[in-house]
Amino acid sequence: MNHIEKYKKYFTKEYLMGPNSFRLLDELIRRSPEDTNYKRTLDLGCGFALTSLFIANETSAENVYAFDLWVTASENYARIKANHLEDTIIPIHGDAMDMPFAQGYFDAIISVDSYHYFGCKKGVFAEKILPFVKKEGYVMIAIPGLKEEPTGELKELFTTWAEGDDAELFRTAGWWETLLKEECGDRCDITVKEAECFDVAWQEWFESGHEYGIRDKEFLEKGLDKILNFVLIYVKKRK
Ligand SMILES: C[S@@+](CC[C@H](N)C(=O)[O-])C[C@H]1O[C@@H](n2cnc3c(N)ncnc32)[C@H](O)[C@@H]1O
Repeated sequence: MNHIEKYKKYFTKEYLMGPNSFRLLDELIRRSPEDTNYKRTLDLGCGFALTSLFIANETSAENVYAFDLWVTASENYARIKANHLEDTIIPIHGDAMDMPFAQGYFDAIISVDSYHYFGCKKGVFAEKILPFVKKEGYVMIAIPGLKEEPTGELKELFTTWAEGDDAELFRTAGWWETLLKEECGDRCDITVKEAECFDVAWQEWFESGHEYGIRDKEFLEKGLDKILNFVLIYVKKRK
């Protein structure tokens, strides 16, 4: 069984919160620019902590801090215990804008399908996220985004799908690269890529039967698939 198939029982409407985050996370880890130290990892915006289970099982992580705003620590702790990972994964409820950790605490910070909810504003990365990773550690982010800015009918379709303000959360790889380079200056090395798992991650979301997945399928089939992508961001904090 390959390592993603092991998590298949979670590819359902009860657990998935969007395009299959196991696919995104697996690719984010696989395409990291160099061997990463995961010993103490923060899973930022972990949702139901499924991504935390994957990090705990599939990387060298000894501790994974499962940190989320919408899902309580108790709910995630129950799932962590059911997977016998309570000595490895620490569930925490909180807001990324006010994290309770020591500076330089994490070897790696990973964030899947979450960072765009709070990270689009200038200053967030440099002030609220970067301080918590060690020097030479990585912040690795996978988020839905845009291949290019939509125009004409595709722009209308996109705006209807994203329902107004949410459209602001979807940005191109170039937009993210510019924002992070402006924020970090010469403190970091930044690599931004487009993910390759687009079709399979969306297909598994559609197949979950989630009501949002059913709506998303309609929009992607009308042409939204031409402008959406997933953006992978790697920020290494320099010495
Ligand atoms: C679409 S879910 C993805 C969850 C999980 N990473 C996954 O891929 O299955 C987005 C998550 O971002 C989290 N989030 C949004 N804003 C946040 C914030 N300010 N601080 C912490 N988490 C936040 C939400 O709580 C939510 O669980």
